Amino acid sequence: MNNMILKGDIAFTPTKDIMEIHKNSYMIVEEGKVVDICKELDNSYKGYHLKDFTGKIIIPGFVDLHLHAPQYPNMGLGLDKELIPWLDTYTFPEEEKYSDLDYAKKVYSRLINDLWRFGTTRSAVFASIHKESAKLLMDMFIESGLGAYVGKVNMDQNTAPKLTEDTKKSIEETEEILEEYMTKSDLVKPIITPRFIPTCSEEMLTRLGELAIKYDIPIQSHLNENTSEVIWVKELFPNSKNYTSVYEEFNLLGQTKTVMGHCIYNTDEEIDLMSKNKVYAAHCPYSNYNLSSGIMPVRKYLDKGVPVGLGSDIAGGNSLSIMSIIGCTIQASKMKWLDTNKELQPLTFNEAFFLGTKGGGSFFGKVGSFEKGYDFDALIIDDSSLTGLKELSIEERLQKIIYTGDDRNITERYVKGIKIEKPFIS
Ligand code: GUN
Ligand code: FE
Repeated sequence: MNNMILKGDIAFTPTKDIMEIHKNSYMIVEEGKVVDICKELDNSYKGYHLKDFTGKIIIPGFVDLHLHAPQYPNMGLGLDKELIPWLDTYTFPEEEKYSDLDYAKKVYSRLINDLWRFGTTRSAVFASIHKESAKLLMDMFIESGLGAYVGKVNMDQNTAPKLTEDTKKSIEETEEILEEYMTKSDLVKPIITPRFIPTCSEEMLTRLGELAIKYDIPIQSHLNENTSEVIWVKELFPNSKNYTSVYEEFNLLGQTKTVMGHCIYNTDEEIDLMSKNKVYAAHCPYSNYNLSSGIMPVRKYLDKGVPVGLGSDIAGGNSLSIMSIIGCTIQASKMKWLDTNKELQPLTFNEAFFLGTKGGGSFFGKVGSFEKGYDFDALIIDDSSLTGLKELSIEERLQKIIYTGDDRNITERYVKGIKIEKPFIS
């Protein structure tokens, strides 16, 4: 039986407003799930394997709700451009390479190793248009033990010639992947991935919506990231109410579980529609700064009850570290506060930590918290290199870890109760 007890300083956010702290306590894990947190151990747990992390902090694993695996070699390149020129000059030429499975394997093993290193235990990932390398990525995630939704990208217009798919073939290949991977793994699942509205014909959007409903498969895409993109979508769909409703017209907006990257320029009406359809927003602040996209009004989304998680948006973003992205989320929200004449309150530390754990985690199920019944996805943090100058509460230690720590402070990673070792030899 996969039962264990972990001892340490336990911290997690069951809601955006509450940080639950259990100093020097025991976490009981049975069959990969949290069953209890207690101060003293009673006899009923005799025989459970005890792991003693006294003095270390135990937190939920981080969740990356939006990134592009084939863009990993581009991380840090071309970030003086805006979205559309950046896609044309840097992103599409790189994504063309993934018909080459050897190259894909080299990139994906580095990416998965680095997700592991930074403590990202679950992620929602765009692959490229290429069926075989999308399958390879899923198989490599399965081998790693990390959780992921992985989507073969669909696009049949307004992209580079080599990335322009035949619509019928694209749908057939997507359906093949769904049938093969829907039940292959408990932790790694397919997700339908129209790149964004401008690169998909109406036929493509129609068929993808049908596939989503037929197989009950979730959806990921981009929404309202950049002002030129918003104008472009208006030109392509002049009769639609707005960008968000275009997705809804094709059953790609919450008819099955959906996450949309960015959501910077949504009108109030569009935010209300996301809230009504329970559509997730993936906030990617590093990417939004780099591509001068803008600052998402996260506070408004939270007030309107839209579920929000955080994304690295590699390679629009320049860091895989959800730790750093949590800090950047607070900074971005403060700039938004100034920007709105102090109307939209900045996010608290607690709220941003919640977004990087349970906020995005809930897209995967009972993930991102240590409440009873949650999957035990966890990180062991050794913050001794960051402390020692003055007395700190556990919450203050956590702030230091987020703002000044890095992957070197993460000493162990767990997914569903299993300790995950470095996935690939590099
Ligand atoms: N919109 C369409 N494709 C992309 C992409 O690859 N990255 C980002 N950030 N936005 C997009
Ligand atoms: Fe993206």
